[in-house]
Amino acid sequence: MALLPHCQHPARPVALTGAKPVPCGDLIPNKKTIMSSALFSPIDLRGLSLPNRIVVSPMCQYSASDGNATDWHLMHLGQLAISGSALVIVEATAVESRGRITPNCLGLYSDENEAALAQVLDFCRRHGDAKMGIQLGHAGRKASSHTPANGRHPLGEDEGAWQTVAPSPIPTSARRKPPHALTADELKVMANSFVAAAIRAERLGFDLIELHMAHGYLLHEFLSPISNQRDDDYGGDIENRMRFPLEVFEAVRAIWPEEKPLGVRISASDWVAGGWEIGDSIELANQLRERGCDYICASSGGVSNDQKIVLGPGYQVPFAASIRRHAHIDTMAVGMILDPHHAEALVADGEADMVALARGMLYDPRWAWHAAETLGAEAAYPVQYERSRPSAWPEVFGRDKAAE
Ligand SMILES: Cc1cc2nc3c(=O)[nH]c(=O)nc-3n(C[C@H](O)[C@H](O)[C@H](O)COP(=O)(O)O)c2cc1C
Repeated sequence: MALLPHCQHPARPVALTGAKPVPCGDLIPNKKTIMSSALFSPIDLRGLSLPNRIVVSPMCQYSASDGNATDWHLMHLGQLAISGSALVIVEATAVESRGRITPNCLGLYSDENEAALAQVLDFCRRHGDAKMGIQLGHAGRKASSHTPANGRHPLGEDEGAWQTVAPSPIPTSARRKPPHALTADELKVMANSFVAAAIRAERLGFDLIELHMAHGYLLHEFLSPISNQRDDDYGGDIENRMRFPLEVFEAVRAIWPEEKPLGVRISASDWVAGGWEIGDSIELANQLRERGCDYICASSGGVSNDQKIVLGPGYQVPFAASIRRHAHIDTMAVGMILDPHHAEALVADGEADMVALARGMLYDPRWAWHAAETLGAEAAYPVQYERSRPSAWPEVFGRDKAAE
């Protein structure tokens, strides 16, 4: 039996299927959904109840103007909000203007940014079912860049380049000017920028915040010995390198409502000998869990050009599994997970609690619907599209009625 999400079904095609119209919120018999799916089972993160484990991974769109969301965000996030995925996490959003990767990155550091994002969020909520999260971050020494479509290289002085900041004055490559090494006083200001953005996120009504501690951006730069060569309390051993990211986490957790989840995306490995590795990630996950972190999204890489990543389907899943097992915290797996059976198995086998998709969602924004169909489950459809639900129109979609 499947409980239809609130008012998700229109007048059902009675004449064709012979089914009786079902009032909103009623259970409709659907033999296929009796088979239980782990991917489509609910999960609670604090006070946030998600109807399934499918997450739209944060994806920079490089389509903002002065940090302000644009019409592109309406379309991009709007379509994903109706995708049947339980949670959509808005792209890496800078907590200060110099924390944008490119001049076209999203920000949440001004009233204008907040107002622009309010429109997008309102649009998604009005039409979609997905819970909305936001990834807050700072690009650190990788800021002041061209977009990927324009080559990612550093902005020139005549292209509006700005001074980047980092734990240590080490550029990512010889092509870049060294970043400014943040002083201890400047770190306090930086932590406050994260808090200010989180307060804006709360005013906007976001359901969840994910702090970006991955991919070679500022907070990851503090964690990794490759980018952090400080000799004060914020550098040296792992305890010192974790200090600033943990301070940011604590400061945001302190003002973020108790009932709302706060997760963290990390790079579980730098994929470089002598860099940050999975054992460090387990230690960090333990520290974060003790401070009220609700999940770890296990990504990897991004801090060094010397990284040697071994790619393949689910290549980062072992990181999520290891963190889950050893740090006893919910994890989100991400990275080359496309096959619904693969996603199902990794949740069912206890390797991760949630599955995030990025490129797969861009390619197929209806991935959750198709996964539901493959796994014999149900996902939320907007009322306007209900007639594309195969279980409502088996003849149209060539479903074998005898098999039901
Ligand atoms: C267009 C695009 C933009 C991305 N932007 C972000 C981002 O804002 N924050 C982040 O943590 N990861 C970002 N990523 C990485 C994805 O969230 C994801 O971790 C990665 O693509 C691997 O998942 P996939 O194989 O499902 O694409 C981006 C990926 C893509 C393809």
